[in-house]
Amino acid sequence: MKSDEIMDVALRRGFIFPSSEIYGGFSGFYDYGHLGTLMRRKWEDAWRKHYLRLNSNFFEIDATNIMPKNVFVGSGHIENFNDPLTECGKCHSRFRADHLIEEFLERSAEGMATDEMSKLLKENSIPCPKCGGQLLDVKMFNMMFEISVGSTGESEVAYLRPETAQGAFLTFKRSFNTLRGKLPMGLAIVGRAYRNEISPRQGFYRLREFNQAELQIFFDPDTIEDHPNFDSIKDVKLRMFPLQNRSTGEVDDITASDLNKNYGIPKFYIYHLAKIQEFYLDKMKFPRELFRFRELSADERAFYNKIHWDVEVYTESLGGYKEMGGLHYRTDHDLGGHQNASGEKLDVNIEGKKFIPHVLELSFGVDRNFWTLLDVFYKDEGDRKVISLPKVVAPFRAGIFPLQKKGDLEKVAKNVYDSLSECYDVFYDDSGSIGRRYRRQDEIGTPFGVTIDFQTLEDNTVTIRERDSMDQHRVKIEDIWKNI
Ligand code: GLY
Repeated sequence: MKSDEIMDVALRRGFIFPSSEIYGGFSGFYDYGHLGTLMRRKWEDAWRKHYLRLNSNFFEIDATNIMPKNVFVGSGHIENFNDPLTECGKCHSRFRADHLIEEFLERSAEGMATDEMSKLLKENSIPCPKCGGQLLDVKMFNMMFEISVGSTGESEVAYLRPETAQGAFLTFKRSFNTLRGKLPMGLAIVGRAYRNEISPRQGFYRLREFNQAELQIFFDPDTIEDHPNFDSIKDVKLRMFPLQNRSTGEVDDITASDLNKNYGIPKFYIYHLAKIQEFYLDKMKFPRELFRFRELSADERAFYNKIHWDVEVYTESLGGYKEMGGLHYRTDHDLGGHQNASGEKLDVNIEGKKFIPHVLELSFGVDRNFWTLLDVFYKDEGDRKVISLPKVVAPFRAGIFPLQKKGDLEKVAKNVYDSLSECYDVFYDDSGSIGRRYRRQDEIGTPFGVTIDFQTLEDNTVTIRERDSMDQHRVKIEDIWKNI
């Protein structure tokens, strides 16, 4: 199975490790090894470069992971951030009731009331997947991790943030003032989020502690029907999977301007769909046919969204199209909610016009994107395993291989290593045959090999070997950087 193959490479080579493994592991938690840390950081940097450059008034901020209870009263998470839970009456294992219904009855249970789910479990005698026992009535379970802050006696209930987004809403007032009161204003946060998933399955896809990259764009709702750069993307064909295509499974290529004319989606929203697609197809190099935007129905949308299309990439190891992120029109849900709950005014006054800004959120799960990159670009070619990662996210840009361990070749190779490491992450490997060294780097996605051999000592050239084509050519040492 592909998921086993990728997990094997990931564990064996140091992309990811099960958390707390020597104590038997901890379901829904993973650590990043040295390769995974390099790769994740590169994905995050590529994300920053792409999305923060969309507007000169977009910036990254950082916020705490722990926030007091009232924040989540204001945001609506205490009331709404629930998943349906059922428990086995015999072995007491707990499961997501909607997932079991979807699996056993092959129908969607999104937005279904708990009574109806309980009825379906009973009527269809859906058994406990672990022991076959009878499942109990479905209850709603809040997915936030509750913690207690302070010493006994004066402790306060707080929560680990279930999304990075809230940090941006809480700093909105100060950020808006320090950024000279201009809209649109973008606040991005890249960091950890936490959800107490009922039964995290699918390995690395649904984690309890995970990483998000989210950009909150605050804007005047009266400007949603336009975007100053819409013309630059109006003819771009977007890969859309609207609700009416659910029965056929077909993805339509729809130009940005037709989406606006025929589907009534505002231009401000469509412009960001186009920029998200550009990130996946042009920067991450995913094949076009594996990518789509999936429209969510009113029942499926997160409780804070008015328009919600998920960003999906076909991920073989996870059994189909999987959510990588979403474009969420959150309206004034959050600033309005925090204004009511905190009593702090969060409206703005721009040239005499007073209003609560609306929010368009570009939200991505970093770990899922990381896994899907491994999935899509991993190939077992028989005599070699290779991950053809795009250069921007490959853990190492190049392997440096002296043909001999010691002597003059080592000296030159160390110099090459030192100078390339000024700009790139590069890996020095002087052990084993050159063929084996190439294969080791292929398996972790390194796009180039730089081999220092005896000819190097004569004419100052090295061999550059390309991962995907396996072509080799010689270049002068001073020209290596132009060739990798
Ligand atoms: N901030 C949106 C999400 O976590 O899905």
